[in-house]
Amino acid sequence: MEVERVQAIASLSVQLDNIPSEFIRSEHEQPGKTTFHGPIPEIPVIDLANKDGIVGAVTEAAKEWGLFQIVDHGIPVEVVKELQRVGSEFFELPQEEKEVYATEPATIEGYGTKLQKEDEGKKAWVDYLFHNIWPESSINYKFWPENPPNYRKANKEYAKHILEVMDEMLTSLSLGLGLEGHVFKEALGGEAIELLLKINYYPPCPRPDLALGVVAHTDMSAITLLVPNEVPGLQVFKDDHWFDAKYIPNAIIVHIGDQIEILSNGLYKSVLHRTTVNKEKVRMSWPVFCSPRDELVVGPLPQFVSEDSPAKYKTKKYKDYKYCKLNKLPQ
Ligand code: OGA
Ligand code: NI
Repeated sequence: MEVERVQAIASLSVQLDNIPSEFIRSEHEQPGKTTFHGPIPEIPVIDLANKDGIVGAVTEAAKEWGLFQIVDHGIPVEVVKELQRVGSEFFELPQEEKEVYATEPATIEGYGTKLQKEDEGKKAWVDYLFHNIWPESSINYKFWPENPPNYRKANKEYAKHILEVMDEMLTSLSLGLGLEGHVFKEALGGEAIELLLKINYYPPCPRPDLALGVVAHTDMSAITLLVPNEVPGLQVFKDDHWFDAKYIPNAIIVHIGDQIEILSNGLYKSVLHRTTVNKEKVRMSWPVFCSPRDELVVGPLPQFVSEDSPAKYKTKKYKDYKYCKLNKLPQ
């Protein structure tokens, strides 16, 4: 069965200056009606060059917002630029070339248009490409584009660097709760932690006030490390409002995901977020979801469970957590 890609729907919509009704959100979701306008509290920006302050700043931001931006993170600008160049070029390929990498039922990896069924039967204004980038044994090259020619090299190089940033974040998150630095990483499987890259491609949309890119959700990963292009669109839910995240050149956006919330027994909160789309410009983003392997059992760490503070989450295999989340079943 042929799947309609949003990229194709978008080209038609631009000519008609209108969008199909299945993309029109109900009022309580429409960004035009629900985005906060006014003095915006600052989403924290943390400079990783300032070694002394990192643990405190990361811990506070993770508790207060569940999302923050890091600058001076050590990934060379050219490495990120090259990741973005090859990803953008992939989405500019003719449709039939992209379809070679189409997802298959029951796999997350590949080129596609929708992962979750949405409650109100609405569609998200986004296409994507998913593939693992780490560890080597988890990579299925069938889902790594061969075109543009530098695609694979650029992704390998980025994986190496983003892994180091992940280590630094997990270490700070551990230390900030009084644990030894290695505890969260070890609880997530250590060197077997899997990095899944997603490229989000949000085509221009004639009615950005009515549609959403990615609908409100928390990430099921432990943490997510995201680089966007220069078009803003990420929004964070805090104190009952949707706030725009600023675009900061060369920053990485760190999201606290469900698995860190679970391990910390709720001391860190996974962040509720969504994305808006742009009237004239293509928005793209490259999140890397850092998660345990499927068979790993994850639950609140014993250090955070006591009579006064009972376990708030079930202990279960990550694959069972994923299954419930993707099928919207209670955990
Ligand atoms: C996601 C996501 C945010 C963005 O793909 O899970 O939240 O800025 N993306 O594109
Ligand atoms: Ni997300």
